[in-house]
Amino acid sequence: MSVTYKAGKEPHEKEYRLIFKNVDREGWDTSLDTYENEGGYEMLNKALKMETQSITNEVKASGLRGRGGAGFPTGVKWGFIPPNNTKPVYLICNCDESEPGTFKDRYIVHQDPHQLIEGMVISCFAVGAHTAYIYIREEFPEAATIVEKAIAEARAKNYVGKDVLGSGFDCEIYVHRGAGAYICGEETGLIESLEGKRPYPRIKPPYFPAAMGLYLAPTIVNNVESLCHVVHILRMGGEEYAKLGVARNTGTRILCVSGDVKKPGYFEVEVGKVTFRELLFDMCGGPKEGREFKAVIPGGSSSKILRCDESFKIRQGDSEVNLDFMDLPLDFDTLAAAGSMAGSGGVIVLDDSRKMSWVLNNINHFYAHESCGQCTPCREGSTWMRKLSDRIVEGKASPTDIDTLESVAYQIDGKTVCAFGEASSWPVEAIVAKFKDELVSETSTNNDDAILTPEEASATKYL
Ligand SMILES: Cc1cc2nc3c(=O)[nH]c(=O)nc-3n(C[C@H](O)[C@H](O)[C@H](O)COP(=O)(O)O)c2cc1C
Ligand code: SF4
Repeated sequence: MSVTYKAGKEPHEKEYRLIFKNVDREGWDTSLDTYENEGGYEMLNKALKMETQSITNEVKASGLRGRGGAGFPTGVKWGFIPPNNTKPVYLICNCDESEPGTFKDRYIVHQDPHQLIEGMVISCFAVGAHTAYIYIREEFPEAATIVEKAIAEARAKNYVGKDVLGSGFDCEIYVHRGAGAYICGEETGLIESLEGKRPYPRIKPPYFPAAMGLYLAPTIVNNVESLCHVVHILRMGGEEYAKLGVARNTGTRILCVSGDVKKPGYFEVEVGKVTFRELLFDMCGGPKEGREFKAVIPGGSSSKILRCDESFKIRQGDSEVNLDFMDLPLDFDTLAAAGSMAGSGGVIVLDDSRKMSWVLNNINHFYAHESCGQCTPCREGSTWMRKLSDRIVEGKASPTDIDTLESVAYQIDGKTVCAFGEASSWPVEAIVAKFKDELVSETSTNNDDAILTPEEASATKYL
């Protein structure tokens, strides 16, 4: 069936729409009838007749890597449930979408909720979970209403609930609304929150959710987009799915582009098949009038910034190639080799009108506000980084403040309970490393009053 999209919302020719096929589609709505008319829930029917291990094997063969941030292989994660487990297994769909710059999961839930529900029930069947939760951030009230309605419709048709489609498999899905905190996107913080507690992340090991998650039982936490891919993997077969994208970086993924481009928005592309040049110039229309691209934060605010005039040595197969920033393909491995990460797919673009001190300060305010406060390096360090960048933007910093800022970041990185520590310190480390001259140019040795007091200097040393 040919698919048409609403005027002005047509996908770019370089897109490959799998997950977003129905987003902004003419004549599409969120009802079960509409979803069923196009083969909806047929893959669930197929899955229920398969061996559960075969489903996991298909997901492994697909090479799918989690779309929530870390890019961990989904099938491998599913395989971590202890084989001798006697406790209930849970599945959690992470719909916190809290990483700044990311806006894809909300469109899936708003416009195609049954795709997610079908992916979840198949995944539950594969991992042996009879109870699943969709954890939705507080700021998505409409999404919660839409998905609750869709679950009720799916239950009425026996796609969810007792004895799903007469298979003997029971599966209930509950929607749980968060109270609005970035750290509830971190899977163990999310689990604590779901248990009704303050979302203090748990330390790993031992609390890897697949072994010790919700109520200390094995729990698979997957991102919304990751769970939707499961439906397409079953339809196409794992091996066929793996032909999309590039080696080790398979399938499609949704990139969310925001900031200083002519046409910001979401774009679903084959992983690694599109370069920054294609994304920023062809798909997003290039920089705004009279401006030039300066830097890009490629995978949500916690990923390390890349300069648009940088070049990188990247391993491709057996050889190493030199690539300018614009020629980097956006896949997990290339962005890691370039010293950053693909993360959540939130591409934040900055042009030459942006002062890096402003960018840094904006990010530091966010992380200082969102630290859960459980561990000292993160709680104190994120506040110190904010105070130091406040001083730079206020014109009150001395050059030594930049060194202090960098030193505080390195005292957080790798020394905290959860990866928020890296999320808050990596942007600082990268911005200072790549834009030090610009930052220093905003300081003055005359700012003696801004130089840390001996007490403050000592506080920043012993985080
Ligand atoms: C501070 C922090 C915030 C996170 N926020 C999100 C989020 O909003 N959504 C998400 O899916 N994953 C988020 N993650 C990653 C999750 O911990 C987890 O890895 C992910 O939900 C697993 O799903 P996936 O394997 O399908 O990617 C966050 C991680 C950290 C450290
Ligand atoms: S690193 Fe930060 S967010 Fe994570 S547990 Fe420690 S204080 Fe909380």
